[in-house]
Amino acid sequence: QEVGKPHFHESAVLHVTGEATYADDVPELHGTLHAAFGLSQKAHARIAGIDFSAVKATPGVVAVITAGDIPGVNDCGPIIHDDPILADGLVQYVGQPIFVVVADTHANARRAARKAVISYQELPATLSPRAARAAESWVVPPMQLRRGEFERAYAAAPRRIEGQLHVGGQEQFYLEGQVSYAIPREGGMQVICSTQHPSEMQHVVAHALGLHSHHVSVECRRMGGGFGGKESQSALWATAAAVCAARLKRPVKLRADRDDDMLVTGKRHCFDYDYAAGFDEEGRLLAVQVDMVSRAGFSADLSGPVATRAVCHVDNAYYLPDVDIRAVCAKTNTQSNTAFRGFGGPQGALAMEYMIDNIARDLGRDPLDVRKLNFYNRPGQPGRDVTPYGQQVTDNVIHELVAELEATSEYRVRRAQIRAWNATSPVLKRGLALTPVKFGIAFNVSHLNQAGALVHVYVDGSVLVNHGGTEMGQGLHTKVMQVVANELGLTLDRVRVTATDTSKVANTSATAASTGSDLNGKAAQDAARTIRRRLAEFAAERFGGSADEVRFAASQVHVNGQAMDFAELVGKAYLARVQLWSDGFYATPDLSWDSATMTGHPFYYYAYGAAASEVMIDTLTGEWKLLRADVLHDAGQSLNPALDIGQVEGGFIQGMGWLTTEELWWNDQGRLMTHAPSTYKIPAISDCPQDFRVRLFDNRNAADSIHRSKAVGEPPLLLPFSVFFAIRDAIASLGDYRINPPLNAPATSEEILKSVEAVRTAA
Ligand code: MTE
Ligand code: MOS
Repeated sequence: QEVGKPHFHESAVLHVTGEATYADDVPELHGTLHAAFGLSQKAHARIAGIDFSAVKATPGVVAVITAGDIPGVNDCGPIIHDDPILADGLVQYVGQPIFVVVADTHANARRAARKAVISYQELPATLSPRAARAAESWVVPPMQLRRGEFERAYAAAPRRIEGQLHVGGQEQFYLEGQVSYAIPREGGMQVICSTQHPSEMQHVVAHALGLHSHHVSVECRRMGGGFGGKESQSALWATAAAVCAARLKRPVKLRADRDDDMLVTGKRHCFDYDYAAGFDEEGRLLAVQVDMVSRAGFSADLSGPVATRAVCHVDNAYYLPDVDIRAVCAKTNTQSNTAFRGFGGPQGALAMEYMIDNIARDLGRDPLDVRKLNFYNRPGQPGRDVTPYGQQVTDNVIHELVAELEATSEYRVRRAQIRAWNATSPVLKRGLALTPVKFGIAFNVSHLNQAGALVHVYVDGSVLVNHGGTEMGQGLHTKVMQVVANELGLTLDRVRVTATDTSKVANTSATAASTGSDLNGKAAQDAARTIRRRLAEFAAERFGGSADEVRFAASQVHVNGQAMDFAELVGKAYLARVQLWSDGFYATPDLSWDSATMTGHPFYYYAYGAAASEVMIDTLTGEWKLLRADVLHDAGQSLNPALDIGQVEGGFIQGMGWLTTEELWWNDQGRLMTHAPSTYKIPAISDCPQDFRVRLFDNRNAADSIHRSKAVGEPPLLLPFSVFFAIRDAIASLGDYRINPPLNAPATSEEILKSVEAVRTAA
């Protein structure tokens, strides 16, 4: 049984020895050239003219490529086609690529790209999402989800709160930047690309080159992180490299320097909220309204789907009777924002948690009690179990999960201790919060929930697996290997997964929405089952007994009282001309979504979790530290507990960075000033709590997922809401826990100080 074991990541040794091959490590072919983008210096302008003479005079420069050189369509947008590869006459943000310089080396290309003299006719730039909305400027039509009658319920509610909140965006900060290596192949193109979505890259490259898909192949062995940033936005790099390679008939590599990567690519959407909630004297929610504006940037990209997921996660773990949820994807003259772990879900749920936090303080109750009061009902308990978008929650484990964490984290005892401690500490204050997570698993768009796999059993009994998912560090390949090994009764060392390749498995979905192992695990299982069935039938025919009774275990095959090595049976089957390889396919059942009414059954199941965080803040400097975090997360029946705990820890720390230290800041000219680690602060090892207790909740997926596991990639990103609300709790101590500290995210030291001051003034 290989499934459920804490196996190492299949590339762990290669990662730590530096032998793992990333796109930029692939040995370069003879004649390879290197490309660099020339970027817009203006947020919104017409390009009156460009003088390339200094660029072309730079040593090593081979060519300058502009929009006019694109043989096919100048577009690389994933859904709506408003993403030019190279700006053609109009620039819409500082950092937008206008041309590509191709040179003998990466350094020469970058150096030359800076020497273009561009004359701009400046246009008014919209830099604020709220201003964009006021001007009715959006990239997709506004969305609304209503259930019941918010206005009536709100007016009738015994108590009400309302307010505004701002939550910042987040740079994906994958360690490996965007990179594509395009190699002309007999009239077609091969692209080695760091991407979460090889099929989409194939598609956009074919379009840009005016070719059919069968001319283009895209390969990705692994990424040094994607985090959503390489779902659609690898397209710019793939298409630009391919256009240069096609034009020059030479291999061209385009890789981003960190500053360029951050200036050019989109990030997590920042959100602005106007909220209002009506509730009863105990804190039970009666009416909820959330009006959200996200910063889409200059083009649509994935902003529509991100907003949809935000709308579908405003409820988080809570039953909301009468609701009115609105979302606008504001068009701004900044980078086009895109997927980032959670895909809008965190932004939706955070607004709800903020409201609950306010309600609790208004009533003088412990926020945890108000949270528990509002949870969706347990399965079997009638009522209060349908989400605002109409899906019934049938697998709710949040009551049990939170109860367990409340006990193991000693929440109540520590709550009392912290209050007592704060009373004697004038400058340093401690805070505590326990927050829940419920996260929907599946792509909202039903047709994306499909996957394919190809499993080869070679004559020596070794197994090679290909599937449509991509490896970005999350351990997908390891899990799929475990599934296949399990199905064929092999030890893990007999199975390998190789690079994701569009010429092996066609028409794949992005590895996104945390569905990688759900979808590809099932597809690979399907393929392996076909092979096992053929082998069993052959074995029974050759050695007697029935095919149903043939057992595959520990790399041995047991048939009619005999045992032999898997390889021995495979060798015999080959000679008997049995097909030893198979494809496999999977489509998630029972999904539906109506985007007009924003209702349906978009998720196959929900993943749950909770975290309790304790912080200490310095009320004179705004500095803070996470002292302890207790995490309990539901990965169903885990395929691999070691990898899953890694995902939970990583997601927690990444989400903590989003809500605390990572701040994107544009100047009044629309230039992103935080475009390198010197000014943009992701969490470091020293920011991880010394006392970090991460466990998996003992559960089994109620849905028929792969071995009853649950997707684990994104949901943990919501766990560090507890850190944000612990900081808010610490600040609230200054007003005897009666004043709601105004606190936007990220809760940087400045933001904390501002909030401290506001509470002190009000107290
Ligand atoms: N973990 C690592 N190490 N690196 C990544 O880039 N991306 C996250 C998550 N965990 C990511 C990661 C995101 S955004 C998603 S959607 C899932 O992994 C995708 O992989 P899965 O579907 O196989 O979980
Ligand atoms: Mo993950 S944001 O769905 O790539």
